Amino acid sequence: MCGIVGYTGPRQASRILVEGLKRLEYRGYDSAGVAVQDHGALAVIKKKGKIAELRAAVPRDMPGTCGIGHTRWATHGGVTDANAHPHLDASGKVAIVHNGIIENYGALKEKLEKDGVRFSSETDSEVIAQLIARLYEGDLERAVKSALRHLKGTYGIAVIHADEPGRIVGARNGSPLVIGVGDGEMLLASDVTAMLAHTRQVVYLNDGEVVSMTPADFRVSDADDNPVDPKINEIAWQLDAIEKDGFSCYMEKEIFEQPESIARAFGGRLEPEYGTAKLGGLNLSRKELHAVERVRVIAAGTSWHAGLVGSWLLESVTRIPASAELASELRYRNPVVEANSLYIAASQSGETADTLYAMREIKRRGGTVLGICNVVGSTIARESDGGIYVHSGPEIAVASTKAFTSQLVAFYLLTLTLARMHDMSHHEGILFMEALKSVPEAVRKTLLLRDRIQTIAKKYARFRDFMFLGRGILHPIALEGALKLKEISYIHAEGYASGEIKHGPIALVSPEAPSVFLVPGDQLREKTISNMKEIKARGGPIIAVADEGDAEVVSIADDCIPVPKVDPRFQPFTMVVPLQLFAYFTALELGRDVDQPRNLAKSVTVE
Ligand code: F6R
Repeated sequence: MCGIVGYTGPRQASRILVEGLKRLEYRGYDSAGVAVQDHGALAVIKKKGKIAELRAAVPRDMPGTCGIGHTRWATHGGVTDANAHPHLDASGKVAIVHNGIIENYGALKEKLEKDGVRFSSETDSEVIAQLIARLYEGDLERAVKSALRHLKGTYGIAVIHADEPGRIVGARNGSPLVIGVGDGEMLLASDVTAMLAHTRQVVYLNDGEVVSMTPADFRVSDADDNPVDPKINEIAWQLDAIEKDGFSCYMEKEIFEQPESIARAFGGRLEPEYGTAKLGGLNLSRKELHAVERVRVIAAGTSWHAGLVGSWLLESVTRIPASAELASELRYRNPVVEANSLYIAASQSGETADTLYAMREIKRRGGTVLGICNVVGSTIARESDGGIYVHSGPEIAVASTKAFTSQLVAFYLLTLTLARMHDMSHHEGILFMEALKSVPEAVRKTLLLRDRIQTIAKKYARFRDFMFLGRGILHPIALEGALKLKEISYIHAEGYASGEIKHGPIALVSPEAPSVFLVPGDQLREKTISNMKEIKARGGPIIAVADEGDAEVVSIADDCIPVPKVDPRFQPFTMVVPLQLFAYFTALELGRDVDQPRNLAKSVTVE
């Protein structure tokens, strides 16, 4: 949520800030702004709307070589120019940008107002600027540290002062911040994508740390002013990975990248000789892995759906009980953390607050938590005991697609690893591995169905209610299909286990409410066909996704999407892709903003 970028160096800051914000726009896009130092003063430009509005408002020749910028996803205060960041203190000397939520801002604001401070926005963030200004005695870093002692809540902040040319101070508590180390210039951002065009050398700030930077140098310290030795990391992502690359939008690009991203997720991790997988980052010995008696996945949204598929697969293949739970629920239900349970925090961004806090709660109780993350160096990746990077490359579209299928791969690899320690024979391991290796090609063939899926999407785009139905390992895929459709097309869609419809949802069935059926290739196929007939008998239109050549399904469904036949355990891959395309083409048909759907933001760093 929200994006921060800061620049100090020899170049024109405003241009670098606006370009950086464009890269971060996926993190929040209701308003944006920049503040730049200029001859002992601060120039602030902020605008409601997308970065394009800001870009138009920023003069091409705006002077200044040090500044901060922000793209907002509103929490406190409506979407207005005044509530957009950066926020200035009353004297106009201090400018701050803030991600996160200041929980005690009401009390702080009241106190400051009593002291005569006049506020100009409704945000919680403005108190940070006012507080720093009041505590400033000629040393910005010190003033920031003093102010932080008064704050309760989460923050990633970047601060500049009119009297300290070239200096940016940043601090983090629960909201990511990354330092970009350039040649004679420094950057600060909430996300490496904002700085990839300028440097690959980055330092991840930890909670409780503060950075003070000038073009030539930076210093990291903790709240008590103890110096912290910074570890410089090299970013592997290429700049073209964050370009649209000829596609009309990021979501389309990311859907079509899946044959490669899936292959990347298992690349170098299969050991044919032993019929197993090699997961170097788990940080668990074979003995420790062998002792696992239960697997519990914690995640949110699409990552939770990947966790549901993963736990279904794990339990059925390894016979180790496994389940997936919503992180936002787990944290507040006083969970029992059992010895010999392995927890897995699955998160594309690695920054989702719900998942991060749930993970910390489990760790505090002595649980072992592995991370399945995409973003290298993200908080969940760093704080987990070990994990699996899924290497899907940057995912920019708000609706997650390629990260989902890569997360699935991580679960399939973990399943193979654990299964081979228990009942799975070498031969069965090889078959499982071969099935996994055939997924990229099956997905590539599925993507060739794009025109057919677009035609179906056009036919149904004006319907207002959809049901997505699947059983077994395809139940989570039904949930994911419904989520994709609602989040980018704003059409109401529900995902259900198809065996469950007769227990209530069937009341929704009518000629105006289509059902999308995922037809499994295993023993549940017959049962699913019965469910389809129940819908048909009540006049409900049916779109079926089924193995190619399934004539019976074709004869029942109004429209059928025939996908390549794979081992039924691997159907989540071939079944989710048509649903991603269906949501994408429906949103396109309805003229929606596919990459930046309303009210949403990538990387949900608030609870
Ligand atoms: C849906 C979507 C969200 C995320 C959820 C968790 O398309 O993207 O539901 O899956 O916010 O995000 P991560 O995976 O970053 O923890």
